[in-house]
Amino acid sequence: MKDDGYFILNNGIAIPSVGFGTYLLKEGEETYNAVRNALDSGYRHIDCASTYKNESSVGEAIKYCGIKRNEIFITSKIWNDCETYNDTINAFNKTCNDLQTDYLDLYLIHFPNPLAFRDHYVERNLNLYKAMEDLYKKGKLRAIGVSNCEVHHLEELKSHIEIPIMVDQIEFHPYYFNKDVYAYAKKENIQLEAHSTLGRGRIIEDELLNELAGKYSKTVAQLCGRYALEHGTVALMKSKNIERMKQNLDILDFSISKEDVETLDSLVKKENKIGSWPDKATY
Ligand SMILES: NC(=O)c1ccc[n+]([C@@H]2O[C@H](COP(=O)([O-])OP(=O)(O)OC[C@H]3O[C@@H](n4cnc5c(N)ncnc54)[C@H](OP(=O)(O)O)[C@@H]3O)[C@@H](O)[C@H]2O)c1
Repeated sequence: MKDDGYFILNNGIAIPSVGFGTYLLKEGEETYNAVRNALDSGYRHIDCASTYKNESSVGEAIKYCGIKRNEIFITSKIWNDCETYNDTINAFNKTCNDLQTDYLDLYLIHFPNPLAFRDHYVERNLNLYKAMEDLYKKGKLRAIGVSNCEVHHLEELKSHIEIPIMVDQIEFHPYYFNKDVYAYAKKENIQLEAHSTLGRGRIIEDELLNELAGKYSKTVAQLCGRYALEHGTVALMKSKNIERMKQNLDILDFSISKEDVETLDSLVKKENKIGSWPDKATY
């Protein structure tokens, strides 16, 4: 089985189904080398965020990689310090400046309920979304969406926005994903993206995962990436190591049986969530 490596968003834009994550890469040489190696290895989808504080180095890597801008799908995210429409426009301009681009392929509200705005987070999200809609209409964003949203966050936005949400980027791996969000996203035609697809490296030693990966002659990381794809979910994975980044990209030539996907689904438990709960986070 060979898939073409793309999903189509609800506005018709194609998004590469495997993306390179940049969280925890240090600004400077570490980020530059990792992103250059990722692009040289064939990644065409880079997942960034202003809060990762390395977008300048990502921008340098993209500038010198020799690949045309329109062949690379670049995502960034609006951090928790943004509250207003103008904050969002300023954040967008700063990110574009750092990434040395004049548009983004996808822009996301990073977190739906920051501590600082907890008493009026819905209003805050609507301010940010309105700014993204305007940037979208001006052709500065090819797609817009959110991250870490649960069903109620998506519903709170839905009734007030003009342009439908295209993406929700959520924690998604064999130990944890939110099955309600999954069902809602399917119903509403919202593309899910998996972050922490490898459980941030913590699930690589799991015995059952190793056994299943062996059955397909793949590694646990490849099994986890493919697990996201089997759910129609974009797989975002980060590695500093060139061999591991190549390995993580090499997941389009096999599929996991329905039975094995169900076995993996049965491991999903709330207590296994790694990231903060969106309505309880302390940042
Ligand atoms: N929206 C959000 O709130 C949010 C939250 C978290 C992450 N993200 C995005 O999702 C991306 C992926 O998540 P993540 O970086 O948190 O974690 P991840 O990709 O699940 O795991 C990364 C960890 O796994 C290790 N690793 C990578 N490939 C491996 C392989 N083939 N075999 C063994 N170990 C491997 C890495 O170490 P080495 O580098 O040493 O290989 C690193 O320690 C992020 O980079 C970011 O872009 C978004």
